[in-house]
Formats: sequence, structure tokens, C-alpha cells
Amino acid sequence: MLMSCAAGPAGSGGSPSRDLHSYANSAQTRVTHVALDLEVDFGERRLSGTCTLDVDGQDGDLVLDTRDLTIASVDVSDDDGQSFREAGFDVGPADPVLGAPLRIQRGAAGKVRVAYSTDPGAGGIQWLAPRHTAGRKHPFLYSQSQAIQARTWIPLQDSPEVRVTYSARVRTPPELVAVMSAEMLSGTARTGEYEFRMPIAIPSYLIALAVGDLEFAATGERTGVYAEPGVIEAAAREFEDTEAMMQAVEELYGPYRWGRYDLLVLPPAFPFGGMENPRLTFVSPTVIAGDKSLVSLIAHELAHSWSGNLVTNSTWRDFWLNEGFTTYLESRIQEEVYGPERSTMEVSLEVEALEDELPSMDPADQVLHVDLAGRDPDEGVTEVPYVKGSMFLRTLEHAVGREAFDSFLRDYFEEFAFRSLTTEEFEVYLDSELLSSHPQARQSISVKEWLYEPGLPDNRHVPVSAALDVAEEAARGWADGTLAVGDLDTEGWTTQHWQQFVRTMPEALEAERLADLDRAFGFTDAGNAEILTDWLKLTVSNQYAPADEALENFLVSVGRRKFLRPLYDELMTTEAGRKRAAEIYSKARPGYHPLAIQTFDGLVGWAQPAEE
Ligand code: BES
Ligand code: ZN
Repeated sequence: MLMSCAAGPAGSGGSPSRDLHSYANSAQTRVTHVALDLEVDFGERRLSGTCTLDVDGQDGDLVLDTRDLTIASVDVSDDDGQSFREAGFDVGPADPVLGAPLRIQRGAAGKVRVAYSTDPGAGGIQWLAPRHTAGRKHPFLYSQSQAIQARTWIPLQDSPEVRVTYSARVRTPPELVAVMSAEMLSGTARTGEYEFRMPIAIPSYLIALAVGDLEFAATGERTGVYAEPGVIEAAAREFEDTEAMMQAVEELYGPYRWGRYDLLVLPPAFPFGGMENPRLTFVSPTVIAGDKSLVSLIAHELAHSWSGNLVTNSTWRDFWLNEGFTTYLESRIQEEVYGPERSTMEVSLEVEALEDELPSMDPADQVLHVDLAGRDPDEGVTEVPYVKGSMFLRTLEHAVGREAFDSFLRDYFEEFAFRSLTTEEFEVYLDSELLSSHPQARQSISVKEWLYEPGLPDNRHVPVSAALDVAEEAARGWADGTLAVGDLDTEGWTTQHWQQFVRTMPEALEAERLADLDRAFGFTDAGNAEILTDWLKLTVSNQYAPADEALENFLVSVGRRKFLRPLYDELMTTEAGRKRAAEIYSKARPGYHPLAIQTFDGLVGWAQPAEE
């Protein structure tokens, strides 16, 4: 997508920032603390109240990021908040992606207080009607600030280069509970007023809020789960290994620095599998498979407590530093907690997904240090930063040996703790702290090619999963007719075997053949969202009618983009499919998150009914 901001917003903020996706003049003036005082109005779908910012640096105007906010007034204080006086401000022209700069005549004031309210369509908030929750009785609200949506619910310097501490007071209907990515000072007693404090400086994209009919269950001394009452038990069981995962990462990469680590299970509309909000990872309920088979997602979000939340990408073009490291750490945690076979299966499935995606991608987007000038950072969220990024690290590990690589990573997390860094800074650090003492690796690995070229370098290290090969062979045997379903030895197969089995199926299969598989293995009724997605993709491409209802139910009830995208993509390949996609989408759209709507409106060619 081309935007009107093709030259970047830097010009409006004084001296240019490295971050093309923020208007903030953070090079001159920095916000250091954000204090929120917000009222949650479900009827109006609005947050309103004040945001008081502590500001440091040169005197002069303060430029903040906003998008679709209504600014009521701005006050500033010269005496640390004892008294405030009105200040002049103006809101610049709005860009559809970046929003609008809010320029405040701050002078030398140390505190700036903005009174504001959010728009009902704010991109960073999903307001859910009771029917879109598990309990169907109460509404639900949650934020999703990454990448640049914090500005749709808080006026601030919305760049991962800027870290702030924060505090918040949130008023809700009294029957609901509010939680945030922070210490909960008020507890979960339903008082309708909740207080939070995040004393560790974090980037704005990690500020998070959710409000709903939430209960808490402990799963360990410092771990637990928040979820709706009907989900809490299953969630606590599914995620009971979280403490073991924490111990595994701590052993490998140093202490967990955030105190508690809790999970919040969201309604199924959540557009991601998980989001690493500090102290409180947000999770899609599709991760609850009943057998812990999808908890690599928890390992992933937990790993962000080191790669991402502790050491942060400076700009969104350095996103691979967050996700590539995290995907690598995720596999190391899985290996420690569930063993190398499981971990290798998961890595191989991921690598196959990347290899599937690459050929259809613009070469420029196959680059780790991706160019996002004039684009929505959401466009950089592909398999490349995740899987190519982790492959790069695995290749380095292989070249220098695990011990040296682990020690390098431990030092890296220590060196850059609570800081942000760019790809170029990483490149320099890698060379001086690892490659300079491993001349052979330095020679064999072309760091420049990994970071700045499309495609995958030839000497990449890719683990081979013998277990997946078994599933692949079984699938081929059945597909070429040498094995009947009854001959397949699927005893002891895990979710990852089944994923490989379904993914290996030939694209074209007759209805009778699909029915044969379905009778034997019950795919259409699969409770596991990963297996179900792979299966539904196959049934769509073969127009297998018995799965139609399951497809519609799934697309209408689940909002996770990773599952929706391949299914809508597949539907859009035929005339009949496009018609079905349009029908299903019109039912599903009201329950989707703004980010999912942004993605799928274009994909299914949704046309807003003309307004009267
Ligand atoms: N931080 C991401 C989610 C994200 C990325 C939100 C970019 C907004 C912009 C999270 O850690 C993540 O990677 N989630 C993945 C998990 C997976 C790869 C294990 C997801 O949601 O699928
Ligand atoms: Zn991630």
C-alpha cells in the first residue's frame, strides 16, 4: 500500500528520528512516564480521561503521536503537577496509517496533561459484544498496541525507541475486571476501579489493557491465568508448564526480570496467537487444544520477555530482532521442556511454511532488514522476520557451537537490556563479540547476505525431523494408493504429525477420498485449530461440501489471522469460492478485530454498503 507519508513523518518532528512510523520529536524531548486515568464506556465504545506525561530534554514543543483521538484540552505543569495551566496545541493533518501529530506548546514544563477520548473504531481496541465472548453475558474490551496502535488509545511518543514507565487508574462497570501489562495494585475484587503500575521502562507498543468477566487461577508461584469463568479451568491445565518454561529460559539466558508472568485468554476474535505484553501475555483461546500440543506459542511469548521486551527493535524495519530471536528462543525452550523431537518437528513445520511463502513474495520483502518506508509496519509481519531470522541464528549457533552461541546471547541480553537497537548495531555487536573470535564462522557465514538480501542463503542450517518424515511417508502412501487408511500406523501421533500428514496431501482429491480420510480421522470435527485449518484448506480447494458448515463456523467464530488468511485465500481462487467468501465474510466481519478487517476487506473485495 502506498501512503501519503511516502517521505516519512520526520519533518514534522524537528530533527529526524530513525523511526519512520512516528511523528514524535524524541531526539529533542522524551516522555519518560505515562500516567493514565481512564473511564471505560461500553455503551459508547469509548475510553475517556487524561494522560499525564513526564517530559525530559530540550525546552520547546512536544510532538506526540495520535490517531483518531479527540483532544479536549492540554494543560502543562512547571511544578511537578501541583498546578497546571492551559497550553496551546494543534493537531496536524492525518495520515491513514500514521495518524496525526499532536504538537503541544510545552515550553519548559515538566508535565503535560492531555484530556482526550478514543474513537469507537479505534484501531488498537476491540470492543466485543457479549455474544462474542465465551460467557455471552458481559461485554469485553482489549487493546492491541503493536505495532503502531498505542496512539489510537493513548497520545504518546509511539516509537519502540522510546521507553516509558507507566501508571494507570481505570474505571469500569463494577461487574467487570480490568487487567494491564503491569503490576496490579488494586487486586481483582470487583470494585469498578483498578490501579496499575509498571515501574520498568517499556516501549509504548507493550502498554496493554483488557476488561471483561475475568477470573484468575494460579498455575505456580509466579505464574497464573486470567480467563472468563467458562474457560479458566481448561486454560490453567493447558498452561501448567509455564513455570517449567520460565526456568528453562532463565537457565539458558539469565533471570526473568519482570516479576510475575501471567496469561490472559482472550475471546476467539483476537487476531494473533499471542501478544507478549509484559507480565501479562495475551493469548488466543485457539491455543487451548486440550493436550498442550500448541503451547510453543507460550514459549514464544515468554521468550519475548528477553528478546523484544528487554532488548527491543529500534524501528519496525528491525522487527526481525524481536521475532527472529524469539522464534529461535522458542525452539530452545521447547527442546528443554518437551525434548528435541518435538522441537525439531515444530521448527521443520515452520521452515516449510517459510519456503511455501517465499516464492510468492516480492524479493524486497524477503529481506530481514525490510524497507517499510511509506508502508504500514503490519506489512512487514510475514514468515521472513520469524523464520528466516531464527534460521540465521540457528546457522550461527551451528557454526560456532552451542556453548559459544549461548554465551554470546546471554551477553547480548545483558548488554542491551532495557534498550532498543537497530540491525546495524546488532551487526557490529555480532562481529565484535562473536565472529571476531570465530574466524571460520565469519568466513562461512555471509552476514550481509542474511540481513540485506532476499531469499535464503545456501549454507543455512535446517534441522531434519525424522518424525515428520514418518507422517509424510504415510500421507504419500495413502495418496498414491499403496496404503489404505486402515494400514496407516498413526499410533502415538502428535498434532505436528497430523499437520504434516494433512499438508503433504496432494492438492486435488476427490470427495470420496476426502470422506475416506474424514471417516477414519475425524478431521472436520477436529478441535485443534492448526489441524482444522490445514484440513479446511484442503476441503475448500476440492469443494468438499461436507466440511462447508465447519468452515463457516470456524471463519465466523475465530479471528486469528494466521488461520483466516489461508482459508480466505483458498476461497478466493474460484468463482464459487468468492461467492461463499463474500457470504461468510459479511456474517463474520462484525466480530473481527480492526486489524483483521483491514487485512480481509481487501482480500475478499469487501465493499461497504453505500451510506444513505
Ligand atoms: N508480537 C507478536 C504479535 C504481533 C506482531 C502483533 C506484529 C502485532 C504486530 C507475537 O509475539 C507473535 O509473534 N505472535 C505469533 C505467535 C507465533 C509466531 C508463535 C502469532 O500470533 O501467531
Ligand atoms: Zn513474537
